[in-house]
Amino acid sequence: MVVPITGITQEYETLKAAFLNRNYFAPLSNPKRILDIGTGTGQWAIEIGDEFPNAEVQATDLSPIQPSSVPENVHFFIDDASEEDWTLPPEHFDYIHTRILLGCFADFRDVIRRGLHYLQPGGFMESQEIMSTPCCNDGTMPLDWPFLEWSRFGNEAAEKAGRPLEVAHELKNWYEEAGFVDVQEAVFKLPVNSWPNDQHLKFLGGKWEQNLLAGLSGFSMALFSRELGWSKNEIEVIIPGIR
Ligand SMILES: C[S@@+](CC[C@H](N)C(=O)[O-])C[C@H]1O[C@@H](n2cnc3c(N)ncnc32)[C@H](O)[C@@H]1O
Repeated sequence: MVVPITGITQEYETLKAAFLNRNYFAPLSNPKRILDIGTGTGQWAIEIGDEFPNAEVQATDLSPIQPSSVPENVHFFIDDASEEDWTLPPEHFDYIHTRILLGCFADFRDVIRRGLHYLQPGGFMESQEIMSTPCCNDGTMPLDWPFLEWSRFGNEAAEKAGRPLEVAHELKNWYEEAGFVDVQEAVFKLPVNSWPNDQHLKFLGGKWEQNLLAGLSGFSMALFSRELGWSKNEIEVIIPGIR
C-alpha cells in the first residue's frame, strides 16, 4: 500500500504495533552512538534515548518539526541525507536507523552506502519500510482491484518524480551489495482493513485503513496531477472505488 504523506504519528503507531512494540531488531547491546535518519516527529529517537540513557542519539531531518523537550541524550539536526556529506564524522555510529523513508530519495542505495561509511566496524544499520504495492496470500485479489490499481499509479507517479516508493523488497539485496554482512530480513503483515480474523491483524488493519483513508485524497491529488498530468475530476472519479 502507498504511504500517504499525512499522519506520520498514525504510521508510527501502526508500525510499532506491527512490531509488537519493538523499536529495533538489531542485536544491540549498550550502543554508544545512534543515528536516526529522517526522524520526522522524532518519536523513535526519543524512545531510543530513554531506553539507552548512556547513548548519544543524533536524529536528522529536512524539517524542524521535532519537539524541544526531549531526553538530554537526544539531539535533532537539520540535515539532508541525500547529500553525499552528512556533516558527521565517519565510522562514528554503532547503530543507524531509518524508518518509512520510501519516496524520499532518488536512490535509497546511496543512503545505505553512506550509512556504511558513517558506521563503526561491527556496527548495525537497520531500515524498516512499507511495501507500496498490496500483496495477497490466497490469490483472491483481482488485478483490476481499485486499490491495487491506485498503488500502481502511486508507484508510477513516484518513479516519475524521481523518488521511488518501491524500496522495501529490495533492501536486503541493497544492504548486501553495499558490503554489509549477516543481513537479516523480517517481513510483517500489515492488512489494509480490519477483515482478518486474527485479533492482532484486525487491530493493525483497522488502524492502517484509517491512515490510508485520511491520506488518500491529498496524496492522489498532489502526485497524480503533478506527475501523471491527471485533472482534478479524473482523480475524484477514482477515489470512491478505492475507498
Ligand atoms: C514518513 S516520515 C518518517 C518519519 C520517521 N522516520 C517515522 O518513522 O515516523 C519521512 C521523513 O523523512 C524526512 N526526509 C525526507 N527526505 C529527507 C532527506 N533527504 N534527508 C533527511 N530527511 C528527509 C521527511 O522530512 C519526513 O520527516
